[in-house]
Amino acid sequence: MLWTVILALLLLLLLQTQLSVCLRELRSGGSNSPAYSSSSPSSSSSYNATQQRLPGAIIIGVRKSGTRALLEMLNLHPNVEVAKAEVHYFNVEEHYRRGLAWYRAQMPFTVPGQLTVEKTPGYFAAPQVPLRVWNMNPAVRLLLIVRNPAERLVSDYTQVLHNRLTRHKSYQPLDELLIHKGHIDPGYKALQRSLYHQHLARWLEVFPREQIHVVDGDALIRDPFPELRKAERFLYLPPRISPSNFYYNTTKGFYCLLSAGHDKCLDESKGRPHAPLSTQAFNKLCRYLRKPNNLFFEMVGSLLLALLPNEGFVDVGNDT
Ligand code: A3P
Repeated sequence: MLWTVILALLLLLLLQTQLSVCLRELRSGGSNSPAYSSSSPSSSSSYNATQQRLPGAIIIGVRKSGTRALLEMLNLHPNVEVAKAEVHYFNVEEHYRRGLAWYRAQMPFTVPGQLTVEKTPGYFAAPQVPLRVWNMNPAVRLLLIVRNPAERLVSDYTQVLHNRLTRHKSYQPLDELLIHKGHIDPGYKALQRSLYHQHLARWLEVFPREQIHVVDGDALIRDPFPELRKAERFLYLPPRISPSNFYYNTTKGFYCLLSAGHDKCLDESKGRPHAPLSTQAFNKLCRYLRKPNNLFFEMVGSLLLALLPNEGFVDVGNDT
């Protein structure tokens, strides 16, 4: 009798250990280390080893903060392959219903040891996305690039304006959209997208803070290399991107990319002149964003000082 009880207890202990190992495996996406290599990608890979893989890292937003520049710059790394177009898998119901096989089919071909990266800025503000991403792979690395939220809003409006003009559609000036009866209109969509803390809070309900790396989009414009070095480290990639991969293009007014003798600038939709906004409205906007922005700083730590109010945040009264 005593032996039966002891045997049953031992069996139970064994099962419990196996279960906890299994749970840990699941949480880390099947491995404690990244699925891609931190050394050079496999050079002895056979043709069969080349396949489309789910992303190990995703640039989740924020729209108009430099998401394309960050993706192209990461692509300079030999261990990285990127999905060229925005995939919109987790935020568009029609795509999501097609399942992971469809998602995988949108990815570039990689060899073992390479990291697949996709960017869809629409993920950041879509409430259903964080849990869906977690369900795909709870160990996925997330990159969030942010920019001065007031500048981002103007860039966002400029993009929408450009699309409407191209399609010969009518448009409203930004002042009219942003200001309602003398006050900032909190319902304006582009404004809501600049409330970073609200959206990040939803991601942090699902992912631990260490799994989200925040890139300073304004610093990326001024000097891309240091931001790329930090991103490499976060992605467990060996340092391969160097300052010589970037040069300042005076015609473009931005940094362009250099790799293996090829020179590449982002297209004309990136870095175009912004639509006009009156100084009064801009100042109101900056005051409105001050509190949300401080909440965001508290969430991510103080490393993003470059995002602190610039001269546009000067107090010119107490209207909202
Ligand atoms: P503007 O067009 O307002 O200047 P996204 O790719 O997320 O749409 O972001 C577009 C923004 O990327 C541009 O906004 C631009 O400021 C910024 N950007 C950052 N680095 C850039 C680069 N090297 N070349 C062009 N644009 C860059």
